[in-house]
Amino acid sequence: AMIGKGGHRHYMLKEIYEQPQVIGDTLNAMFNPVERTITLPPLPFALDDVERVTLIACGTSSYAAMVARYWIESIARVPVDLDVGSEFRYRDPPLQAGGLALFISQSGETADTLAALRHCKAKGLRCLSIVNVAESTMARESDAVLTTLAGPEIGVASTKAFTTQLVVLACLTIALARAKGQLDADGEARLSKGLTEVPARAAEILKYDEDLRAIAQTVAEARDVLYLGRGTAFPIALEGALKLKEISYIHAEGYAAGEMKHGPIALIDETVPVIVIAPSDGLFDKTASNVQEVVARGGKVIFLSDSEGNRRLGVTPAFSVVLPAVDPFVAPILYAIPVQLLAYHVAVIKGTDVDQPRNLAKSVTVE
Ligand code: G6P
Repeated sequence: AMIGKGGHRHYMLKEIYEQPQVIGDTLNAMFNPVERTITLPPLPFALDDVERVTLIACGTSSYAAMVARYWIESIARVPVDLDVGSEFRYRDPPLQAGGLALFISQSGETADTLAALRHCKAKGLRCLSIVNVAESTMARESDAVLTTLAGPEIGVASTKAFTTQLVVLACLTIALARAKGQLDADGEARLSKGLTEVPARAAEILKYDEDLRAIAQTVAEARDVLYLGRGTAFPIALEGALKLKEISYIHAEGYAAGEMKHGPIALIDETVPVIVIAPSDGLFDKTASNVQEVVARGGKVIFLSDSEGNRRLGVTPAFSVVLPAVDPFVAPILYAIPVQLLAYHVAVIKGTDVDQPRNLAKSVTVE
């Protein structure tokens, strides 16, 4: 069936705006609002048996996997191994039969991820896939499937598939943590409450569209852009940089904020916008001191935080987007949205083909 742009100029913008809805749909499929607990569809293996999780994905989906690594290790206390599809098999890591391998893919067809799945299956791992296309090859070949209910994603640059992947991964983390005895009812209620607030917060964040469009003017003039974040904001920095590269063709790099002093700081001057993803969480003060170093070197900081973060920063960034305060657990889901909007507006200013960027494909079925 033909899918329209719903009054938006591009599919990408339409898909960004669909996020409050599709995040809610994806969450409601796994969340019981009365008991306030997460219930996954029945799986052909017991979560309490999982001793290690191997996460494999490509592109934007690999950044969802990276957020999940932080969550699964810190909340469920299960060790995680993570790789991109194209490296995993050739690395030939030792794999334990009976271990859990988790594949994340919007299309369910990406050749490198699919090859990794077949490799893991052959090694006797249990293969669980998170896909957006329920009838895809990965879904068919996996032992179990969790679906993101993002609906068809047309724009080549992934947006709503990414945030709904994070929602499924957050639910999986909670279910795994509970099964492993790492989460009591209160803990689960707190994390679930954070999750249930995501659709409303996502809708609030879309109201920053105009502010981000204004900031995009500055970013569009840059040759290089740096994205910084710590903890679960680090994969969002990587995703922000990827989005910008994909659709605006501006060189962008995502870096762990604490690693900046080991290299990228040498590039900083007034021509390099530095986009900082910094929700006020337990790591905030560390990120703030990295931002102070950038500002001291004349760097043009675009600061994405909440009002508390802006208060605590201690220096004045070139631009500041004061986002709503959110539970740190769900912050990576929500902070993905402003970086999508920023990349989108930069691309529009540059006049690129936003939905069909040059040299890129929606689904890469060759290795
Ligand atoms: C391509 C797309 C990306 C996507 C990646 C992985 O590069 O352009 O948007 O993130 O493939 O795709 P998958 O369908 O496996 O998530």
